[in-house]
Amino acid sequence: MRGNFGEHFRLSIFGESHGPGIGIVIDGIPAGTPIDEDEIARFMARRAPGRDPTATARREEDRVEILSGVLDGHACGTPVCGLIRNTGMHSGDYRSLIGRMRPGHADYAGFIKYGGFNDPRGGGHFSGRLTAPLVFAGSIARAILRERGITIGSHIERIGPVHDAPLDPVHPAPALLDRLSASTFPLIDPTVETDMRRHVEEAKAVLDSVGGCVECAAVGVPAGIGSPFFGSVESVFSTLAFSVPAVKAVEFGDGTAIADLPGSQANDSMTYSDGLVTCLTNHNGGVTGGITNGMPVLVRVTLKPTPSISRPQHTVDLNTGNDTTLEIHGRHDPCIVPRAAVVIESILAIALLELSMDDAATRPS
Ligand SMILES: Cc1cc2nc3c(=O)[nH]c(=O)nc-3n(C[C@H](O)[C@H](O)[C@H](O)COP(=O)(O)O)c2cc1C
Repeated sequence: MRGNFGEHFRLSIFGESHGPGIGIVIDGIPAGTPIDEDEIARFMARRAPGRDPTATARREEDRVEILSGVLDGHACGTPVCGLIRNTGMHSGDYRSLIGRMRPGHADYAGFIKYGGFNDPRGGGHFSGRLTAPLVFAGSIARAILRERGITIGSHIERIGPVHDAPLDPVHPAPALLDRLSASTFPLIDPTVETDMRRHVEEAKAVLDSVGGCVECAAVGVPAGIGSPFFGSVESVFSTLAFSVPAVKAVEFGDGTAIADLPGSQANDSMTYSDGLVTCLTNHNGGVTGGITNGMPVLVRVTLKPTPSISRPQHTVDLNTGNDTTLEIHGRHDPCIVPRAAVVIESILAIALLELSMDDAATRPS
């Protein structure tokens, strides 16, 4: 079990979906960092369930109780513990699932790993609810980065086959990223919203679910953050991204599509602009050699369709040792993607802050 991340901005998450609460301990927040609880609440509300027809009907306030490390709106420099109480559980929904493994969910792998002692209710520690503490940590990280001129925002790049317009990889406007990061259904082209919502509704109507992709950018990132090999921006961000339940792919810049380009196009030609080195294109997503190159950091994170669906599925019953058919009732997100957008923004902020703290520790003076 590994519930912690980071060497400088250190996180340790805890909790289960249907336990008393979930939360995080954050170590490494510099003393004096402003902690704006209203802003934190706004980011938490974007991820919170029960607010949108594309989300689970489970209703949670997701208010963070800060138990330590903050006084009069500023970090004390000591560990900050944020607790989010669980209130909207219907644990009875899970009684019929005991021993009957949900395909696509962590039930079987978790049962084997923990010998059946793991809490299966609502997915237990595997639940997407555990991303709420990441949003809390990310809210603090992005506030620190914003003071340094870094803006982060994301949009729903696609749900199933319905695509939004892409972010401009070279000049994603900070004002656009701010608009997107204030939205619970962030889209560059609002005219695609109806089609996206219809796609989710149609899947839900036939007891199914859908996946999609979040595209996220950070602008104002200086060149020089990250390091080769294991401390690369790609590897540290991917560690966080693949820790988010339901994430199946991570791409930087053109991602897998870069294989279609010859080197002459995939290379981002460099130029001086007002005395600063910049690139004319951003096929590499702002990272070369594992280190930021001064271009916007551009990532795409693909999430699978929600595994818990009401449609009958073939699975196994560990109680009887037989195959069985499972219909999952209870409250589930027909599509995870809209709620995941703020989670992806949060982990990008956490990765960049962690690496910039490492950078400060390793740069020649
Ligand atoms: C914000 C968020 C909400 C989620 N909601 C649900 C849900 O309602 N039902 C469900 O079965 N899975 C949900 N998931 C996904 C599962 O937690 C995940 O698929 C499961 O733990 C297995 O992990 P894996 O998909 O990474 O292999 C959610 C994930 C996230 C990030």
